[in-house]
Parts: sequence; structure tokens; C-alpha cells
Amino acid sequence: MSLSIRAISGLDELKDVYAFATPILALPSGIHTLEYYAEQLAKTPQLSVVAEQDGRICGCILASVEGDHVLVGPVAVAADSRGKGIGSAMMREIEQQAKEIGQDTLVLGALEGTETFYLGCGFQPNLFIQAPEPDSGERLRSLNQRYEVIWESQQDGWSKLLLRTPVIDKDLQREYQRRFPACSTQYVFVKHIR
Ligand SMILES: CC(C)(COP(=O)(O)OP(=O)(O)OC[C@H]1O[C@@H](n2cnc3c(N)ncnc32)[C@H](O)[C@@H]1OP(=O)(O)O)[C@@H](O)C(=O)NCCC(=O)NCCS
Repeated sequence: MSLSIRAISGLDELKDVYAFATPILALPSGIHTLEYYAEQLAKTPQLSVVAEQDGRICGCILASVEGDHVLVGPVAVAADSRGKGIGSAMMREIEQQAKEIGQDTLVLGALEGTETFYLGCGFQPNLFIQAPEPDSGERLRSLNQRYEVIWESQQDGWSKLLLRTPVIDKDLQREYQRRFPACSTQYVFVKHIR
């Protein structure tokens, strides 16, 4: 069984990879469209990675340079290939490629339930909270007694907060959702690679 983890070779392969990831991750979502990754493939081909086993696509990570960091987008492994180290091997490849193009930081938003995987890849968790209310910054902040606020914003009708939580704090996440029913929360993971 030969496994290869390598950069996507061109637009046709990107289309196949995107079609592979679509049912796993319910793509497209947000900026993660095929058009967006076709543009990224032209700019930073090293950051679009496919895993192939015996000629069949079994995993992918699509990433892009956004401002001062690498934004890791779709991360997917075929259901029958999970738990064999393919996801973490692809992440190591992205990390290596990001270093080679002079990047210092990887950032990603995790789907519920995948946090342990990213912790295992060496990422640090941060809890992101956003509420569709223009002036709730103070109220959002007041619910957190424990963690450092590393970023906040009140703009365009939204109040947003990012907390550095050294561990995954599901209780605090649930508490935000209970006290601010309209808010959404997500773990944003960061890895400094230098
Ligand atoms: C998450 C995903 C990419 C992990 O890929 P994988 O190839 O199975 O991961 P690995 O085999 O490299 O696992 C590495 C470690 O993470 C753990 N892990 C993997 N997936 C996990 C999950 N969903 N929840 C908790 N832990 C997980 C493994 O147990 C392993 O731990 P170990 O080193 O202690 O044995 C894969 O499960 C997947 O495609 N899931 C569906 C799509 C998805 O949720 N993608 C992430 C979007 S944010």
C-alpha cells in the first residue's frame, strides 16, 4: 500500500480533490470555494496538498496565505482511511511548506469535535465568540473571568471576542451559547512554526 502526500499538480487535480472534500465538509462554505482555491493554487501551489493511496485520493488540506499567516481551510481524510496518521502527516507537510515560503503562523477554525486532532498537531486553542449585537463587547467580556482577551472588535453590528484558552473549555463555550442565544462560538487554532 503506497501512500503519497504531495502538492496538487494542477487545476484538474484540484477539481478532483475539491469534489473529494465536498461531501465530507459540506463545501463550499464561506470563502472555501473551488474558485478561491484555484486562485490560491496559482499563487502558492505548495499549500494545496493531496494524500493518495494506490492511485486513489484519500485526503487533502487546502491552505492559503492571508495577511501575515497561513489560513488552513478544508482538512479531510476519507472515512475508511482515518486514524492512520494521514491527517497529521498532511498537516506536517503544510507546516514544512509554509516554513519554506517564509511564513511563521498557521491559523484555522475547527469544526466541533475535531479539537483533539488539532491539539495533537501542536496547535494552541483560542475561543472565538461573536454576537450579532453592536454594543455587547462589555457583556461578552464579563462572562469570562479566566482567560486573556487577545483580540476584540465591535463593528458592522457585531461584537467579537477572542480568548486565549490553554485548554478546550467546553463549559465556557456552552455558557456563552446559553447566555447569548444568538451568538456563535468556535475554536480557532494557532500554531507558531518558528
Ligand atoms: C479530522 C481528520 C482530518 C483527522 O484525520 P486522521 O487522518 O483521521 O487523523 P490522524 O490519524 O492523523 O490522527 C491524529 C491524532 O488525532 C486524533 N484524532 C483524529 N481525528 C479526531 C477526531 N475527529 N476527534 C478526536 N481526535 C481525533 C487521533 O486519534 C490521533 O491521535 P493519536 O496520535 O493520539 O493516535 C479526519 O478525521 C476527517 O477528515 N474528519 C472529517 C472531516 C473533518 O472534520 N475535518 C476537519 C475540519 S475542521
